[in-house]
Amino acid sequence: LNILLLQDQIEVREKLVFWLENTYGAFIREAASIEQAVELLKENDPPFDLVIYDYQKSPVKEFRAFRARIKELPCILALPGATAEMPAAITGNRTYVVNRNLFVEELQKTVGEMETSGTLKREQKETEFVRIRTKLLLSVCPLVSDIYIRLSETKFLKLFHEGAEFGVPELEKYTVRKGIEYLYVRNEEAGEFTQKYADELRFMLSARNSPLADSIRSSEAAFEVVQELGARIGFTPAVQKVIKTQVAITMRTMGSSPNLKDLLAKITRSQAEYSGAHSTLTAYLACAIASQAGWGSESTFHKLNLAAFLHDVTLSNSKLAACETIRDVEERAFTEQELKAFKEHPVQAAEVVKTFNEVPPDVDVIIAQHHERPGGNGFPRKLARTHIAPLSCVFIVAHDLARYLLSADPNLAQGAALRLFIEQARARYDSGQFKKALAAIENVTLSPP
Ligand SMILES: [Fe+2]
Ligand SMILES: [Fe+2]
Repeated sequence: LNILLLQDQIEVREKLVFWLENTYGAFIREAASIEQAVELLKENDPPFDLVIYDYQKSPVKEFRAFRARIKELPCILALPGATAEMPAAITGNRTYVVNRNLFVEELQKTVGEMETSGTLKREQKETEFVRIRTKLLLSVCPLVSDIYIRLSETKFLKLFHEGAEFGVPELEKYTVRKGIEYLYVRNEEAGEFTQKYADELRFMLSARNSPLADSIRSSEAAFEVVQELGARIGFTPAVQKVIKTQVAITMRTMGSSPNLKDLLAKITRSQAEYSGAHSTLTAYLACAIASQAGWGSESTFHKLNLAAFLHDVTLSNSKLAACETIRDVEERAFTEQELKAFKEHPVQAAEVVKTFNEVPPDVDVIIAQHHERPGGNGFPRKLARTHIAPLSCVFIVAHDLARYLLSADPNLAQGAALRLFIEQARARYDSGQFKKALAAIENVTLSPP
């Protein structure tokens, strides 16, 4: 989204730029005067998608002439206290008037409306770069490909050459001092990165028994890599290898009879991005619940682990992955496209898994059913309880608990949070395998220590 922002006060402008960049990943060109704006319009590089006119020196008078200059470009006009829409005769076509006193809310609402109506197309520009969390570069050192830093939506600058050392000093320089969380590799070089990353994971698998915290962190990082690469270069055999190796690490850490009580006592709130943390926690909880309920076998754990790792893999927006129902998504500020992605993600992720070589049966079923509900009010198929597979039932309860624990009030003690979850969940999971899965949680939570 390329925006021309006309604002005459530097402090206001800086805040707006920051907000627009963070909210929309927009690329902003700033103008402090009409003349500057006109110059930037001439350059038009990259071409503008939207003009925001917040020129308080002349909020109305000069606007008409300016409106004529920007031709068909959609424009947001900020006016203090504007309430109703002003007639097009004053503002011109494709002008959206927002109340400046409620700037941020109104801006957000208007951009949303413009997107829904198709006035504004915010296509995620397909860059030729894959995003890599900066700290992961430690595990592919010496670097297997050139590494870039992102300057704007479309501009990247080479930072390290292939073969360069990337050590702790470099990591500190970029993450701690400069606050740069992600660096980039070219799409066509992502294969080498994946290969080396998979080797690194294999090394971790062979080297030692990983403690729970290490294994969880590794899984969260691997999830990010898989999600990003899957979207960029597809689920290639190298990406599949990362998944398999990570699942093997998780399985080994759990052991043959994962203990739910132990697990609940040990897990702490993750610092990772929501999706990775949520998928990892779901994996551990699903296996421990299955084990506690007496359904534990290596093949069951393997299925649950794979399903947990991949069930939301097509949802690139972490906030979307935190939603539970279609209603949750509809009630928040998501675009039509995001709503569609959410509705389809169980089926899409199941399709992804079907393309893998050597995946045990049922994994795609668990994934496809992970938003079905015992009351028949889930999605995408509104399956009746009796049509939901037993392993899916375990998964659904574990998934629900994982989501709950990650979003629970941080001041609430773990035991109190669990009791609250159980209280609320009893009505939902009151029969069949659902009830048994919940009973497993009740048994370890409510039993005396
Ligand atoms: Fe999920
Ligand atoms: Fe999901």
